[in-house]
Amino acid sequence: MADQFVVRSLEEIRFWSRIMKEHSLFLKLGFNCDDTQLINEADRFYRVFEDIENRSHSYSADSDPQTIYEFNNIVHQAVCHIWAFKRKVLGLILHCKILGNNFPLLVDHVSREANYFMKRLEQLNTGTLDALPDAVINENVFFLRIMADHAKFINHLLDPSERKLVEQARDFSHDFDQLLFQAIDLDSMRPQSQTQPLLDQFVDQNRVSVRQLRDFKKTAHELIEACRIKSIIPPLLADHVFREASHFLEILDSFDHALTKAR
Ligand SMILES: [Fe+2]
Ligand SMILES: [Fe+2]
Repeated sequence: MADQFVVRSLEEIRFWSRIMKEHSLFLKLGFNCDDTQLINEADRFYRVFEDIENRSHSYSADSDPQTIYEFNNIVHQAVCHIWAFKRKVLGLILHCKILGNNFPLLVDHVSREANYFMKRLEQLNTGTLDALPDAVINENVFFLRIMADHAKFINHLLDPSERKLVEQARDFSHDFDQLLFQAIDLDSMRPQSQTQPLLDQFVDQNRVSVRQLRDFKKTAHELIEACRIKSIIPPLLADHVFREASHFLEILDSFDHALTKAR
């Protein structure tokens, strides 16, 4: 039987290293062209995560767990560094030391994603993954905020003349803010809130909205690729946020499955 530790580690690294690689590119595109040092740093991170991504595909479910344990540590180091880079950039923007097109919330957002990846690698290597009731709440609190941010980014990067799409993005932003607050409420009511029926309903309700948002992102990506709408959203960014929604949906599906089994 394949080692679960190896399988889960590789899944996480394959998904998130591509995400980290793309963040480097998005940050670079948002820097002022005179900020060559920051551009070079972003380029360096792009290559680091490209290498990690390639290496993760050279391993398989049958790889030696010890090798994967060491690989996780190497990746963890790299993620720590890109997290620090993102926080540095956030500081430069908020202190008005640099000008560019990276929204502070976007930089904070990508640093939160790096932090999540870092924590996941630590959990894998220390064998301390959350138990199901805690995982359900923690993952939702994290990802609902990520989804709410995405809706806000899309809203602000669409051309203002795309009134219908802007309105849809704003509705998603509101919807996910509400879901996030519900999740935070459930979080503060822990552990009493961790009953089977409440967690079931929580996962079901979030799944419906995430599915809708994922479909909206998919459509947006197709429209942008076909040059049918006006925006300053790079096609890769549209695809990136679509993949993050799909990833969250897979997590929700696995919770649904696990909760049904536990019934
Ligand atoms: Fe991202
Ligand atoms: Fe994101």
